[in-house]
Order: sequence, then C-alpha cells, then structure tokens
Amino acid sequence: MNRLKGKYALITGASLGLGRQLAIAFASEGVAGIAIVARGVEALNEVRERLYEVAPNTQVLVVSADLTRQEDLERVVATTLNEFNGHLDVLVNNASAIGPSPMPFLLDYPLEDFRNVINTNLVAPFLLIKKALPAMIENGGSIINVTSDAGINGYPGWGAYGISKFGIEGMSQTWAAELNDSGVRVNWVDPGDMNTAMHRAAEPDEDPNQWANPADVTEVFIYLAADESQNVHGQRFQAQEENWGQETLRSLAVTQ
Ligand SMILES: NC(=O)c1ccc[n+]([C@@H]2O[C@H](COP(=O)([O-])OP(=O)(O)OC[C@H]3O[C@@H](n4cnc5c(N)ncnc54)[C@H](OP(=O)(O)O)[C@@H]3O)[C@@H](O)[C@H]2O)c1
Repeated sequence: MNRLKGKYALITGASLGLGRQLAIAFASEGVAGIAIVARGVEALNEVRERLYEVAPNTQVLVVSADLTRQEDLERVVATTLNEFNGHLDVLVNNASAIGPSPMPFLLDYPLEDFRNVINTNLVAPFLLIKKALPAMIENGGSIINVTSDAGINGYPGWGAYGISKFGIEGMSQTWAAELNDSGVRVNWVDPGDMNTAMHRAAEPDEDPNQWANPADVTEVFIYLAADESQNVHGQRFQAQEENWGQETLRSLAVTQ
C-alpha cells in the first residue's frame, strides 16, 4: 500500500484489459494523480468511477484521444501536465492495436492497417516520451513500455503487431541508452499471455481461460513505477516469469 504515494502517472490504453488493471493497481498504491487515456470515453468514465471507489482522493484525469493522431498525442501530454501542475513521474505506454482479425500474413497485410498498428504501437510511444520527457527530467521519473514475446520472435500472422513490438524493444533500448544519467529510467515489460479483448481477437479459436487475468500481472509495473526501482534502468521484464525473468533484480540494477 502507498508505494506510489505522491506520484503522478499517465497510462495509455487504460480503458480495457491490462491498462485498466494498471490504473486500478496504481490507485490502490496511493498514486496522487492518474491520467487515463484511450479513445472510448464511456469505458474511461467507467474506469474513473472504479478508481474513485478504490481511492477516493486520487485525482483522475480522463483523456479521450486517438493515439494515431499527432494533435491528440500533443493534447494528451499538455492536458496532463496542465492538470497535474507540471508533474509527471510515471509514463506507461500500454495502448496497442492488434490489427485485422483473423491476422493476415504480411503478403496479404493491408497497408492502411499496417500503418495504423505501427502508429498506435510504436510512433505514439515515441512521441509521448518525447513530449513528456522535459517535465519528467525535472524530478526524475519512470517510463515503462509494454512489449510482447511477439517483439522478440517473428510469429507467422502476427504481422504489423509483432513488428511494432520489435520496434518497441529497440526503441526502449535506444531511449534507455540516451537517457543514462538523466534521472529518468526506461524499462520495458512483456506481460505474457492475458485474457483480454486483444488476445481473444488475435486467437479466437483458443480457450481464453488458459491465459492470465491482467489483474494478476500488475506487480512488476508497480515495482517499476515506485521509488524502490529508482536505480533500475534499461531492463526487460517478463511479468509472469519467476523473478520477472531477471536472474536477480539486484545484480541488474544500473546506477544512473
Ligand atoms: N493480451 C495479451 O495476451 C498480451 C500479451 C503480450 C503483450 N500484450 C500487450 O499488453 C498491452 C495491453 O494489451 P491488452 O491485451 O490489455 O489490450 P486491450 O484489452 O485490447 O486494450 C487496448 C487498449 O488500448 C487502447 N487503444 C487501442 N488503440 C488506441 C488508439 N488508437 N488510441 C488510444 N487508445 C487506443 C484501447 O482503448 P480504445 O479502443 O477505447 O481506444 C484499450 O484501452 C499491449 O501493449 C499489448 O501489446 C498483451
């Protein structure tokens, strides 16, 4: 409890699935303010009500935005910083698009869908980090990008989604290298298979009950958002693996 006391966070894709559970978990940990971002305003309002039940004193900012649009991305950061008096401690780039379902092979992949997935999953996190960084550097902060095992293995049919996650892996490493000694840490998390709308759309013939409840994979995100990880930088985590896929957390801590 209260591991995020006093912190201000922004979570994209917070209307559904993992992002919604992250918002609830962050509120449970006493976050001072949280901006929840997605396109669907009704679903975001439902999440806001849930957050007020969990933590009545948390400042909840609903930002309806289409992350494929540059003007929306700029508005997301500007509105958040304005409402939180210039404070932003944690940025979670979680929103993602899976692309067409059933998932076509690259040879048949429509260009418009390819662009939409790359814009949502890769270009949006790039721009959000770029825009949020000046405020985050002021007080130090944590950037957490959500990746996937489809970002390290080229699975047939996972097309633009997988390619976007390969991009997130590389972009996270590059930001991390460039932000050494900046006070802002960058880490990335593969949450593993979860029972969400996205995964059900990707693999409609599979039994979704075999996949984790997204509420059960939030712990590593709280760790990375909290001060206890303030020296952890440039690392990849796997939310459902023992030790989150790290040999020992301590040995991988990088002093900034
Ligand atoms: N589910 C899995 O098994 C799994 C496995 C590995 C990694 N992941 C990763 O985990 C993260 C969360 O996935 P999930 O399964 O929770 O997905 P999800 O349930 O489909 O939720 C996706 C979220 O992203 C938002 N979003 C999508 N396109 C958007 C856009 N253009 N602008 C703004 N918001 C947008 C959606 O809201 P709106 O539609 O209202 O905009 C929604 O809130 C993703 O990064 C995903 O790649 C998931």
